[in-house]
Amino acid sequence: MQDTATLTIDGQTYELPIVRGTEGEVAIDISSLRSRAKVITLDPGYANTGACTSTITFVDGEKGILRYRGYPIEQLAEYSSFVETAMLLIFGELPTKEERAEFRTMLGDQALLHEDLLHHFDGFPPNGHPMAILAAVINSLGTYYPDLLEIRSDEEFRQAVAKLISKVRTIAAFSYRKSRGLPIIYPDPRRSYCENFLHMMFSVPYREYTPTPEALRALSLFLLVHADHEQNCSCSTVRMVGSSEANLFASVSAGVSALWGRLHGGANSAVLTMLEQIRDGDLSVRECVERAKRKEFRLMGFGHRVYKNFDPRAKVLKAAAKRLLTSLNVQDDLLEIAQELEDIALSDDYFVERKLYPNVDFYSGIILRALGIPTNMFPVMFAMGRMPGWIAHWHEQFQDPNARIHRPRQIYMGPAQRDYIPMHARKRTS
Ligand code: SDX
Repeated sequence: MQDTATLTIDGQTYELPIVRGTEGEVAIDISSLRSRAKVITLDPGYANTGACTSTITFVDGEKGILRYRGYPIEQLAEYSSFVETAMLLIFGELPTKEERAEFRTMLGDQALLHEDLLHHFDGFPPNGHPMAILAAVINSLGTYYPDLLEIRSDEEFRQAVAKLISKVRTIAAFSYRKSRGLPIIYPDPRRSYCENFLHMMFSVPYREYTPTPEALRALSLFLLVHADHEQNCSCSTVRMVGSSEANLFASVSAGVSALWGRLHGGANSAVLTMLEQIRDGDLSVRECVERAKRKEFRLMGFGHRVYKNFDPRAKVLKAAAKRLLTSLNVQDDLLEIAQELEDIALSDDYFVERKLYPNVDFYSGIILRALGIPTNMFPVMFAMGRMPGWIAHWHEQFQDPNARIHRPRQIYMGPAQRDYIPMHARKRTS
């Protein structure tokens, strides 16, 4: 196999190294291109550009494959849990029983927020969006743990990991309670990760909330399939911010902000809104598909930059949604509408030609809704799931001795040089 690519520009020929990945992916290393050929590449949206090499997650969009550290998402969904999968992503291997128990204790010990931090929540308006609160409070964690603004050892990294994985859950629950004018429910370290979250969300001082095993399994699965997805928009943001040697809290806070967008983590709540519009008669399923084909709007929860086949996470969540609703003996008409929308879209040439399939966001909202989580918290749940991936990627870059600050180039298309115009001589022609 060739180990270089040949590029010819203005009669000059350049040999560029080829990089080949574990799974046969091929890249042209252009890191010397500008210094040698005085040219750059242009790739708006980076659809054809690799920002780094990584050993964390592998996605094959054509085949609908997703693996965390080599383990297929289907097997992790079947046999693992969110916390175990988080450890796999961050530390590189499935934990031993002792490692798992030790980390679980760390998560329990780190669930509380500094009492002074609680005043932050009083300062936000009740209808403040929980993603804004999450980004702000995560960044402020650095003020309470200044020793972790610079991570100098594996132990300090483990401490920072436990703080972020555990406290993201507490911040999410506290922002929900505040928005509803409900008293804060403190974490209970005797409970598992997911049980503790639902306890903080839904217990009241006079009655503890005890979720069903199916609800706990559905939440763990939801978080697990969201745990990482290689160089997506929010992960690339975390890497970009971390590349300037910004601290871990600031970097993942930036990831929360990137995830908030409707085209990314905000899609799960947009899917619910779309399904509710259909249910409430504003739109039939067929009209929804036809309007999407006329490009009047996007079918939320459909399509993906990488998956040109079924998103394997959508399959896992679709089955989990059905199991959860059956166990709760709940008939959610939105699930039926989602299924009908999927069937119609997947038999329509517009979607088939563009390889638009349901993505991770299409069914996730059905699960969250069944768990009683309000729609505006759906992106927060995505962020809670994605925290391990952000941390793993930040750390992979942090550990890389060859890592450089991200500083893309551009092609300037603005005015050529011109002289300053004194105020009296300025006039608007158009
Ligand atoms: C996530 O990157 C990741 O890994 C993200 C994620 C993760 O885990 O981090 O997987 C999570 O963000 C999932 C995606 C959630 N977003 C949505 O569901 C929003 C709806 N989907 C789209 O807006 C869109 O599909 C994107 C943003 C997901 C991908 O956009 P691309 O790759 O830039 O696709 P494109 O805009 O170039 O579209 C290609 C064609 C266009 O039609 P033509 O111009 O070729 O005629 O497909 C059409 C688009 O109009 N199209 C859609 C569509 N998505 C693309 N048409 C209708 N409905 C859609 N959802």
